[in-house]
Amino acid sequence: MTTPHQPAATARLNVVVLVSGTGSLLQAILDGQDEHYSVVKVIADVPCQGIERAQAAGIATEVVEMGADRTDWNKRLVAAVDTAQPDVVVSAGFMKILGKDFLDRFEGRTINTHPALLPAFKGAHGVRDALAYGAKVTGSTVHFVDAGVDTGSIIAQEPVRVLPEDDEASLHERIKVVERELIVDVLRAMRVEGETLSIQL
Ligand code: GRF
Repeated sequence: MTTPHQPAATARLNVVVLVSGTGSLLQAILDGQDEHYSVVKVIADVPCQGIERAQAAGIATEVVEMGADRTDWNKRLVAAVDTAQPDVVVSAGFMKILGKDFLDRFEGRTINTHPALLPAFKGAHGVRDALAYGAKVTGSTVHFVDAGVDTGSIIAQEPVRVLPEDDEASLHERIKVVERELIVDVLRAMRVEGETLSIQL
């Protein structure tokens, strides 16, 4: 008897999202859930609107506040992420640097969205720095997280023009519109097989 060929089912990616603030990128990620991925947990370093958005969507949440000991915080963060058994961790407006313990566990599976075209304007003030430099084009980058600050390999980028009348808030808002779309596109393009993540954009 022959067994009819059955295409391997495509696994739906389990995603954990890290947030620190208003969580508008998280909202786009939540709204974009489909057969490609689902958000299984949202974790923040401070109580914030992102956590409220996750709760409103019925998603598990945890706040892991940093105390005096950063190494201990990294270990607690690893434990909080591990309970959700994610395929991918997304840092979406998460304003803390992830340390060795975290990367030992999740490097290669952790991605970040940055509001500038890396490698230009790394760091916490990517929008402000692009404006101050006089850049005429900036944008959004999704990249893997490594031990540096915004130095990991680039997955996807989209440009945004800087307008003469822009201030930091107006420019950041236009960048965020692009970021929201880009991060969802990247998550939908990711596939997981065992421990291996691949991206077909
Ligand atoms: C985004 O621009 C992200 O790239 C940056 O912080 C912003 C987060 O925005 N690191 P929100 O909290 O998702 O609205």
